[in-house]
Amino acid sequence: TYIIGAACVDVLDRSCIEECPVDCIYEGERMLYIQPDECVDCGACEPVCPVEAIYYEDDLPESEEKFRTAATQLFSEIGSPGGACAFGPLKRDAAVVASL
Ligand code: F3S
Ligand code: F3S
Repeated sequence: TYIIGAACVDVLDRSCIEECPVDCIYEGERMLYIQPDECVDCGACEPVCPVEAIYYEDDLPESEEKFRTAATQLFSEIGSPGGACAFGPLKRDAAVVASL
C-alpha cells in the first residue's frame, strides 16, 4: 500500500483523489487516508501531491511511522467500504492525528 504522512495534515490538497483508479483515498477531518486493503499500489497518487505527503510503504521514513499506524487503526474500525466517493467523508480522524 501507499501511506499519506504528516505533510497532508491540515492541507488536504485532494489532488491525489483525482488520480486513484480504485477510489481508495478517504477524507478525514484533518487529512486523507489510503485504505491499505483497497490500494492496488498503482502509485498514481504519489507524484501529484504538491507537498509530497505520499509514500510507498517500504519507503516510509521512520518519523512517519505513526501515519502507518493511523491508517491501520482507522480502517480496522471502518473496514473496507469499497469506494471513498460513495462512502463520503469519514468526519473523523485516527486518534493519533486528531491529537496532533
Ligand atoms: Fe493530502 Fe497531498 Fe492528497 S496534501 S489530500 S496527500 S494531494
Ligand atoms: Fe490509489 Fe495511490 Fe493506491 S492512486 S491505488 S492510493 S497507490
